[in-house]
Amino acid sequence: MMPGGIAGAVIVGNWKCNGSNLKLRRWADEFDPAGAQVVLCVPHPYITEAVRQLAGRAEVGCQDVSAAHGGAHTGQTSAAMAADCGCGYTIVGHSECRAAGQTDAQVAARLERAAQAGLRPILCVGETLAQREAGRAEQTVKKQLGAVASVLAGCPATLIAYEPVWAIGTGRNATAQDAQKMAKMVRRTVSKLPEGSKIAVLYGGSANSGNAAEFLAQEAIGGLLVGGASLDAGEFSTVCALSVRSLPLQ
Ligand code: PGA
Repeated sequence: MMPGGIAGAVIVGNWKCNGSNLKLRRWADEFDPAGAQVVLCVPHPYITEAVRQLAGRAEVGCQDVSAAHGGAHTGQTSAAMAADCGCGYTIVGHSECRAAGQTDAQVAARLERAAQAGLRPILCVGETLAQREAGRAEQTVKKQLGAVASVLAGCPATLIAYEPVWAIGTGRNATAQDAQKMAKMVRRTVSKLPEGSKIAVLYGGSANSGNAAEFLAQEAIGGLLVGGASLDAGEFSTVCALSVRSLPLQ
């Protein structure tokens, strides 16, 4: 068991706003989970096809859900709808959504909607380069966690992805030691919540087959959130295979 109480590492792919039905089918033909615990987060229109293509090999997640239960919110998808289409997970509070204006309060509402709909949330937290350079990385992440603490207390199945914003899509990953330090701090912070010690922490930010093993060897890191490298089925399958081999000895 990983320290988070999760059996094995979790490898989450995040396609962001990429893909097509054709790409999904070709990707699924090539993808080999290698026995890893895998979640692929696809754009909303591809959820149903991804569930069909990946049945028995990976769970499917979406990348965001509405803060509302439903109703007059044009263009939004509720957590219940995502669950109805077969999603088991949703990313919440990704830095790209936060940069587009999602506030801490809106992230908390999404987390709550996701849990109410039976989706397992993958909550993203992380500091910007300016915040890290100002020595405020820990403080920033603690504030993001503090803003959702009351909701998190009711969602012990949540996965938290530590994703330094400066490492996302830049090819510049955090060092395994820095990621481990931040993951430990996240674990310490959430362990104060009821059942918080069950929450596993993932690392995200330019993770790929070249650096996955090093991150996964860190005892506080229970998996990876993989963006760009998840678009290539072969590359992503290699990350999955590494996750099975890289579990720290307990
Ligand atoms: P990246 O994205 O792996 O392309 O850096 C990670 C993410 O945004 O989840």
